[in-house]
Amino acid sequence: MIIDIVTIFPEFFDTFLGTSIIKRAIESKFVEINLHQLRDYSHNKHKKIDDTPYGGGVGMLMQFPPFYDVIDKLKGEQTKVILLSPQGKLFNQETAKSLAQSNHLILLCGHYEGIDARVESLIDMELSIGDYVLTGGEIPAMIVADTVSRLLPGVIHEDSSLEDSLQNGLLKYPQYTKPDHYKGFDVPEVLLSGNHQNIEKWRNEEQIKQTFIKRPDLIEKVKLSKDQEKVLKKIKEHSK
Ligand SMILES: C[S@@+](CC[C@H](N)C(=O)[O-])C[C@H]1O[C@@H](n2cnc3c(N)ncnc32)[C@H](O)[C@@H]1O
Repeated sequence: MIIDIVTIFPEFFDTFLGTSIIKRAIESKFVEINLHQLRDYSHNKHKKIDDTPYGGGVGMLMQFPPFYDVIDKLKGEQTKVILLSPQGKLFNQETAKSLAQSNHLILLCGHYEGIDARVESLIDMELSIGDYVLTGGEIPAMIVADTVSRLLPGVIHEDSSLEDSLQNGLLKYPQYTKPDHYKGFDVPEVLLSGNHQNIEKWRNEEQIKQTFIKRPDLIEKVKLSKDQEKVLKKIKEHSK
């Protein structure tokens, strides 16, 4: 997969691209992440890319032509062009899974008051990372690039991403590591028992319990099996 990121602050991404799993994924060529300086597509000799909004109003808007030109240059037949924006559809694991099937993404980062609205005619998708407003699209672009990259084959152990929270609509079961006792805080006995059937049963029940407690909105949406329904019923009775 190739991810092209269009930004006026490419330096924002130095640590992101040079650290940990994303760094290794790039080195191993599981993903190629390229940064494109929008100012290189400016039509102005001072590389200016923003101007005042028509009709008046506060702040500066990023201009349409540089975005038109960079998309025109980078876009291929199978590219998905994504605008990061607080007005977009909320980004979630389902969207990440679907984007991980693509082979080329272009992520457009806005700044200031945003981008001339004509850019919306050139995109396939407008994505928001949450109902709040950031100063720029760089952090949202990192969030999308990171989430999608870790779903690509080879980037992390496949079993690990399959068991992640939200992959099947539920949160992951609680996990513990050594030591098993510390200052009165103990690891659940079942995990020390070595009985894999009991551990599996406990984990399945905990997935439902944790989701019910922490994210009741998710438990309403997920399709549970008959056995899971029974577990949920028991948990609901106990919580009364
Ligand atoms: C200050 S915001 C512009 C907000 C715009 N004036 C509005 O009211 O919709 C500047 C840029 O940050 C990015 N941004 C801010 N919040 C975001 C969010 N929640 N999700 C994705 N991108 C966001 C977008 O790229 C946006 O163009």
